[in-house]
Amino acid sequence: MALPRVDLPRLMAHRGLSAHAPENTLAAIRAAHAAGFEWVELDVQLLGDGTPVIWHDPGMRRCSDGRGKLSKLRLEQAREFDVGAWFADGFRGERMATLDETLAVMAELGMGLNLELKVARGRDPEALAESAIPRLLEALPYERRLVSSFSPAALEHSRSLADASSLALGVLCESLPRGWQAQVDAIQAYSIHCDWKRLKEKRARQISEAGIALLCYTANDPLAFKSRWDWGVAGVISDDPGRFIAAGISQQ
Ligand code: G3P
Ligand code: MG
Repeated sequence: MALPRVDLPRLMAHRGLSAHAPENTLAAIRAAHAAGFEWVELDVQLLGDGTPVIWHDPGMRRCSDGRGKLSKLRLEQAREFDVGAWFADGFRGERMATLDETLAVMAELGMGLNLELKVARGRDPEALAESAIPRLLEALPYERRLVSSFSPAALEHSRSLADASSLALGVLCESLPRGWQAQVDAIQAYSIHCDWKRLKEKRARQISEAGIALLCYTANDPLAFKSRWDWGVAGVISDDPGRFIAAGISQQ
């Protein structure tokens, strides 16, 4: 059965507009919207107290002035840290965003979200899916939501919470596995997202010919990427999608 269509754009801002604002923050979502981008990719994880938050790393160090593992922090502790100043002084005062706040902003702005369920080593993929999926289903319409993960368990559990006509799922991988079709079938995936540098033409064409949307991360050089469009790639996830616009690639 054909799945309903998701309004996937050709260009999606990775971790928000992360070349121009601190990644995975409300500021980065607003920056993407202000620059005219309709979709963002964001990472979600659970804090130690179970709050789903938008964050990439297992710890605070790289993108804040704090320290500590997410799995050990409560929300009020994580919120003490500044998550903007590391990027640029103008973002000082930015705080870690919860998934609920993020979804409220996305709904208000009418944006689309590719929510990556980020399962760090030792964390529970099912708990993450159980927390994130109902919130996403409630906040955004089918056409403007997509859930992706490197974790098969997170995807399988997501599928058990929402069928294919109510939630589009994306298989995340580095290079496309030989058994991609079985992975797609197992969860009735809508899309496959791979590292653009590892993409091979033959596999790319097989996927797009099978009617699966093929997205590539994290592509920031439109010239180097150019031939991939002919291979059937549906879209790129980019830190700086404005570079593609400047090279003549439109969003739709
Ligand atoms: O969703 C694509 C991309 O975000 C996957 O890698 O490490 O940037 O989350 P990462
Ligand atoms: Mg990601």
